[in-house]
Amino acid sequence: MHQKKVISWGGDDSKYYAIGSRKCFSRAGVQLVSSRVYKVVITIAVSSQKGGVGKTTVSINLAHAYARSGKRTLLVDTDPQGSVGLSLTRQSRTLGGFYDAMADPDGVLSSLIVPTRLETLSLVPAGQCSDYEWEGASMGVSLQGVRMFFQKVASQGYDVCIIDTAAGLFGVTADVLSACDSVLVPQQAEPLGVRSVPKMLEALTRMRAENPGLKVLGVVMTMVQSGLPESLEAVQALRNILPKPMVMRHVVLRDDLFVRASAKGLPVGVMNEGASMLAVFDGLRAEIESKLRGQYDESRPTSLNP
Ligand SMILES: Nc1ncnc2c1ncn2[C@@H]1O[C@H](COP(=O)(O)OP(=O)(O)OP(=O)(O)O)[C@@H](O)[C@H]1O
Ligand SMILES: [Mg+2]
Repeated sequence: MHQKKVISWGGDDSKYYAIGSRKCFSRAGVQLVSSRVYKVVITIAVSSQKGGVGKTTVSINLAHAYARSGKRTLLVDTDPQGSVGLSLTRQSRTLGGFYDAMADPDGVLSSLIVPTRLETLSLVPAGQCSDYEWEGASMGVSLQGVRMFFQKVASQGYDVCIIDTAAGLFGVTADVLSACDSVLVPQQAEPLGVRSVPKMLEALTRMRAENPGLKVLGVVMTMVQSGLPESLEAVQALRNILPKPMVMRHVVLRDDLFVRASAKGLPVGVMNEGASMLAVFDGLRAEIESKLRGQYDESRPTSLNP
């Protein structure tokens, strides 16, 4: 039986606090043993070749939106920097997590899961990757481990698994992309940045050689500055050069609230002033869900119409 601290956050923008209440996982453990029928879990990687484009921010807030919609959601940090864990728990350096699962494929997933106050949202921090040769890992080295990890996530009854990845499409991230259902690509709305996006999408599409089922959900523009013509032009430029379905209708505006939320260890949606951001990520979630159902909404971009 494993015991964990429950992560909690208030409904206001009160500082994140970890409380010491204990939660038992025996039920989940029994489920793993007794249930051989795995539920289907949707796995969504949030990836980009570039650093600092908002992958972690999108992962956290998208996971929060999924969890709020009632879906049992697991947020997994596969970035050895441990950004999700650092952001939401402040203790990712000491927690076990994804890399421990890679190092010990027979280990029990429930021991790595950190619950949050929102019952439907849990996370798996990056964990201890010092022994794991992630940097030199070529594609395929951890693919089996990642597949087994996703199987265990399914066996725990999760509906959705959001995977925050490190910058780059190599190493463990390549294995995640080879094993997951879909990938969302955050891209900062700035003029130079958008030029390389088509090549990145081509690289992702090539991953289908390994994973024919991989669905490229599209690019979500982040840190869009509605008062800055160059930023809006970057959004429009991307919409011009890519097929329409490849750019998400919802965009994430640049807002200090994200930095403040991150400093407090909170999804932006639980901040007092976070209602509009909550709506954006709810919209993004709905957009992703309809894409995963094979539907594409032809209507114009919603949260911003540059
Ligand atoms: N919409 C936004 N508005 C304002 N700041 C933002 C926004 N999105 C992200 N940021 C800030 O930008 C920085 C980079 O974001 P984030 O960590 O999400 O990017 P990343 O792609 O995960 O980076 P890395 O490649 O290092 O993992 C962080 O300080 C974050 O708080
Ligand atoms: Mg990150």
